[in-house]
Amino acid sequence: MPNYGSVDYWNDRYTQSSEPFEWYQDYTAISTVLGEFIQPEQKILFIGCGTSVIPSELNKAGFTDIDCVDFSEVAIAAMQERYEGLEGLRFTVGDATSLSNFEAESFDVIIDKACLDAQICGHLEKDIANAILTEVNRLLKPGAIFLEITYGEPERRHPYLERSDLGWTIEDRPLPRPVVTTETPAVEGRENHFLYICTKPIPEEAPEEEVKEGEAEDGGEKEGSGEQDEAEPTEVQEGDEGAAAEEQGEGEEQTE
Ligand SMILES: C[S@@+](CC[C@H](N)C(=O)[O-])C[C@H]1O[C@@H](n2cnc3c(N)ncnc32)[C@H](O)[C@@H]1O
Repeated sequence: MPNYGSVDYWNDRYTQSSEPFEWYQDYTAISTVLGEFIQPEQKILFIGCGTSVIPSELNKAGFTDIDCVDFSEVAIAAMQERYEGLEGLRFTVGDATSLSNFEAESFDVIIDKACLDAQICGHLEKDIANAILTEVNRLLKPGAIFLEITYGEPERRHPYLERSDLGWTIEDRPLPRPVVTTETPAVEGRENHFLYICTKPIPEEAPEEEVKEGEAEDGGEKEGSGEQDEAEPTEVQEGDEGAAAEEQGEGEEQTE
């Protein structure tokens, strides 16, 4: 199986073709469900955008603040050239494990389709998948959502998404797999892709402490100090790609 977790694999692949390409679900298939969770005025980030047309379709539909990152400079160069001059749609080379050019808590919605999967089924890069989720959490505003689109069933993805340090609430939404070609017939028990809607919690306000006379003056803790400090750091192209996506699934079966 190719190493889907390696930037070299993706650069080679996009060098062979940087034409628009969609993993799992295309815009027509998921625009309605996406529309339930995203609003045109929101700040949106796509991680591992590849050469998907979903960001540009959303931009055409009136979404005007969209950032897209991918660690493949070949994919990003192609996207920058294809969409040059479009307002509100930006493409930047970036590793989703560390996107320091973006400020903490700056996005209303972060969307992933198959980037996390590439790392999970890559070469057992579970640490990398976890690092991506940590970075997604850093970038989400409190109460904001991460939309994870994957072939991974709940029992395979919840263990990643339910990390206690993230504290996300997770809603599962099966997405019927598109019937691609006769080469990739429907497999019983694997009729769906999945959308996981992960919501970052809004921190509770620390209760007000009674200030006893004298304490405030003699260096006693000021109201809320400490309590409010930071928490501790902690694919539908017609054709063969359906098979590649299945191959990803197989790979994971063998490795988990
Ligand atoms: C299976 S493709 C999906 C592309 C696109 N999201 C789609 O749905 O068509 C996975 C993409 O994730 C990118 N990727 C994998 N690991 C990444 C990482 N750590 N940071 C940024 N991009 C990554 C790859 O370069 C590739 O473009």
